[in-house]
Amino acid sequence: MAFIEGRDIWKYYGDYPALRGVNISINEGEFYCIVGPSGSGKTTLLSLIGGIDRVSSGYLRVGPYELHRLSEGELDEYRNKYVGFVFQLFYLIPRMKVVENVELPLVARGVSPGVRRKLALDALEAVGMRDKAYRRPSQLSGGEQQRVAIARAIVTRPRLLLADEPTGNLDSKSAENVMEIFMRLNRELGITIVMVTHNLELIRNCSRVSRISDGRITKTYSVPEVKSYDELVRELAE
Ligand SMILES: Nc1ncnc2c1ncn2[C@@H]1O[C@H](COP(=O)(O)OP(=O)(O)OP(=O)(O)O)[C@@H](O)[C@H]1O
Ligand SMILES: [Mg+2]
Repeated sequence: MAFIEGRDIWKYYGDYPALRGVNISINEGEFYCIVGPSGSGKTTLLSLIGGIDRVSSGYLRVGPYELHRLSEGELDEYRNKYVGFVFQLFYLIPRMKVVENVELPLVARGVSPGVRRKLALDALEAVGMRDKAYRRPSQLSGGEQQRVAIARAIVTRPRLLLADEPTGNLDSKSAENVMEIFMRLNRELGITIVMVTHNLELIRNCSRVSRISDGRITKTYSVPEVKSYDELVRELAE
C-alpha cells in the first residue's frame, strides 16, 4: 500500500480551483520531487499533504491518517507528530540561539529542557551544524541557516519531510550540501521526502518526479529507470 495516496483532490480558494483532480501515490521511503510553473499548485499540494490546509473534495491519506476526514484537532496532531517542513525562507527566530531554534518544536510538545537540548544537538549534528549551536542565526550563512531549519524539521523524528523550494535562496554549493543532507536523511533514516523545486539539476537525486500544471499532475517519471537525465529535463521543461 502506498504511504501517501491522493485521489481526485480538488482545492478551491474562493471560486478559484488551485487543484483540479490531483491523483498521486507516493511510497514509503521515496524521495519524490514535484516541478511545475509558478501558480500551478505545488505549494497548495504540499500544504494539503502536510495538514496545514484541507482538501475541498477528494481522498487524501498519509500513512494511517485519512486527512480529508480529520477534525482540526486531529489534523494538528497529525502535523505535529508526523511531518517536518522546510521552506524557501528559513524562518529562524533571530533573538534565539541556533540550538534554541531547533528545540522549539519540542517545547510545543512539552519535552523537558534537558532532553530537548540533547535531541536538538543530535539534530544539529546530523546536518553538520553542532559546532555552531550557540550562535545566533544572523551569524550564519544562508546555507547554514537552511541546515539549521532542516535540523528543526527533523528534531521530532518525522516520518515525512516536506520541502518547498528548499534551495531557492541558496547558491549552488549550499544547494548541493542541502541535497546531500536530504539524501542522507532519506537513505539512512528512511524519511520519506516530498520536495518542490524549480531547479531541474536537483531531480537527479529523486526516485520519481511529477510535473504539475494548472492544478493537475500531467506527467510522472521514475528518475533512475525511464530516461537519460537530459531527456527527462527536456520533457519536464516543455
Ligand atoms: N491562500 C490563497 N488564497 C487565494 N488563492 C491562493 C491562495 N494560495 C494560493 N492561491 C492561488 O492558487 C494557485 C496555486 O498557488 P500555489 O501557491 O500552490 O502555486 P505554486 O505552484 O506553489 O507557485 P510558485 O512556484 O510561484 O510557488 C495560484 O493561482 C495562487 O494564486
Ligand atoms: Mg509555491
